[in-house]
Order: sequence, then structure tokens, then C-alpha cells
Amino acid sequence: MKIQGKHYHTIWVDEQDSTIIQVIDQRKLPFVFETFALRTADDAYFAIKEMVVRGAPLIGVTAAYGMYLALLILSQNNWENDLKQVAEYLKSSRPTAVNLAFAVDEMLDFILENKENADLKEKVLAKAAELKQLEIDYGNSIGEHGLQLIEKIYEKKGDTVNILTHCNAGWLACIDWGTATAPVYKAHLKGIPVHVWVDETRPRNQGARLTSYELGEQGVPHTVIPDNAGGHLMQHDMVDLVIVGSDRTTVTGDVANKIGTYLKALAAHDNRVPFYVALPSSTFDWEMHDGVKEIPIEQRSADEVAEIEGWHNDLIQTVRLIPKNSPVANYGFDVTPARLVSGLISERGICKADKTSILNLYPEKINR
Ligand code: MRU
Repeated sequence: MKIQGKHYHTIWVDEQDSTIIQVIDQRKLPFVFETFALRTADDAYFAIKEMVVRGAPLIGVTAAYGMYLALLILSQNNWENDLKQVAEYLKSSRPTAVNLAFAVDEMLDFILENKENADLKEKVLAKAAELKQLEIDYGNSIGEHGLQLIEKIYEKKGDTVNILTHCNAGWLACIDWGTATAPVYKAHLKGIPVHVWVDETRPRNQGARLTSYELGEQGVPHTVIPDNAGGHLMQHDMVDLVIVGSDRTTVTGDVANKIGTYLKALAAHDNRVPFYVALPSSTFDWEMHDGVKEIPIEQRSADEVAEIEGWHNDLIQTVRLIPKNSPVANYGFDVTPARLVSGLISERGICKADKTSILNLYPEKINR
């Protein structure tokens, strides 16, 4: 997608030096556009943990390149064990998004299978690029499938389609297109009038800072709203469709996504507003059956709730919001039970959020 008219991905191999991976530093958007160089697996761990990069597909691809960076500097002795340790280390950076484990395991298996190959490093770099391309293709297909939902609403309504989204499940969270935003971009490109209600998404404000930024850069009409406004808008027929992303979706259709998603699903259910989840196959957890009980929920630093960042005097500045000694709870994600989900939009099509329908789309996962 575009920034100031120039096409970008969120992650790429440095043009001058293939031992360096560049990412967009999302901690600074929308105020400052800067890139951040990853030279080691530690850098990849830091970038994921500190949310230089974030969003389930992007952290998976960053970790894949992290495995490549690790391989570049591993010593000859005992390198296989060292690499397995790096894999566990990278996987521990953030617990909820399953894309991370998926990408790291793919890379580890690939490296071990090809360990005798003379061109191992080049092959591993190509494998990471393959995973990156896969996520781009997934976003593109999710966009095409989700577009049909928007088209149907537009045909019936004959007026602007209002879509509400939470957090940033846009191209910044992926590599290109996004998941939840992909259908919006496809509709916009097709000339269908769309407008996006963007939840600010406290505490880190991914909606207010990132989704608004990327929609604005593509010229998509949008309005940032406080997190609590969605229910009111739905009661007044101001939302035609909710589309969110996911960090992990069980094979039974329970959806982990940014904290607050569940409340939007409840409000949508109460107001009969369709609530769709857009996700690539790398976000499915084929082993889990009960999202509320089984999906690990990340808890992050108290500072993210106690303080807020903004732009003041040409600098990103932080101010305290709460009394100095008040305790804070900062759960990063929540789980929306499948019964509240109208459907899942994946790269293979749209299906109901239940095991039979999901496995119909992914028959190769039956009897795993
Ligand atoms: O904590 P974040 O910013 O990594 O959380 C991101 C989300 O919850 C997204 O909605 C999710 O990863 C889907 S991204 C396509």
C-alpha cells in the first residue's frame, strides 16, 4: 500500500546489504516515518516485543527473518541446538498471535531439512521471502472475498457502506493489503463508497494512530471514534458491517483479537449488525477448541495504560493519565466466542465460525 504516494511493504531486505532486514518503525507513526534495521535475531525479538512491528501476520514474518538472521551468525559447533533455542526465544516474544509460532516452526523445519545444502543461507532468505509473499497473497484474496459482502450491502442500500473496525488489522499489521482492511481497499478501488469507523483502541491506540493513518494515505473516508462509541452507533443504524482481524482463531471459530473486540461483537449481536473476522490460514490454531479457556492472553506493561503518547512541540511525548500509585491491568487481547461471529473471511473464502465449515475450507487439516 502507499505512503505519500510511494508503494511500501512493512518489511523488506535492505537493498545494499542482504544481512539487514528493514521494517517500518510503527512506534512512531503517524507522527514520524522511520525505518528500523534488524541485524540479529535479538533485534527481531526486540522489534516484536516492543511493537516496532505488530499485528499477527507481520510478527510472524519478522520472526521468520529473525531465524535467517540467527543462522547468519551461528557458530559451527552445536548450531542446530542453538537454532532451536533461538526459535523458542523468538516464539516467546509475544504469546497470543499464533502466526509467530507458525512462521518460526516453518523456518526451523526448512533449515533442518536443508542443512546439508551449500547455499543454505540464500535458500533460507528465499524461504522467509516466500512466507512474506504468502501473507501478501492471503491479504489480496481476503480482500476479494470480503469485497462481496460490501458489494451486497451496497446493492441493497444504494448508499455509503459504513464499516466499523477495531485495532489495526490493516496493511501495517500485515505486509500489504491487511486482513480487515483488505475488503475496504478493494471496495474503495472499485468505486464503492465506503466509510470506516475507526475504534481508537486504547491503550496503545493502534486504531487512532495506525488505521486512521493508513486509510488516510489510501484516501479512504474514515472517522476515529472513542472505543466506547460503537454500541451507540450500532443502535442508530450507523454501522452496516463490522470487520476485525484476529491473532488466533480456534478450529471451532473462537476469535482472539485486540482487547475490546468481544464488546464490539456483543453490541453487534444485540443490534443485528453482521460481525465478520478476516484472517489468513496462518492465524488458525488447528489444535485449540475452546478459545476462552485455551488461548494465552498477553499481559503488557502497566505504563501503556497509566500513560499516553502524543505529538507535542514537534516531538512524541508521554504524559501520565492516572494517579501515581493506582494499580493497572493491561490485558492485550480478548476472545470472542464463535456464536457471536457472523462469519470468517479467509483467503479461501467466507465460512461460518464453526468447526465443520472451517474444515470444509481446509480439508487437509481434518484428522491432524
Ligand atoms: O497488539 P497488536 O497491535 O499486535 O494487535 C494487533 C491486532 O489485534 C490485530 O487486530 C490482529 O493482529 C490482526 S492483524 C491482521
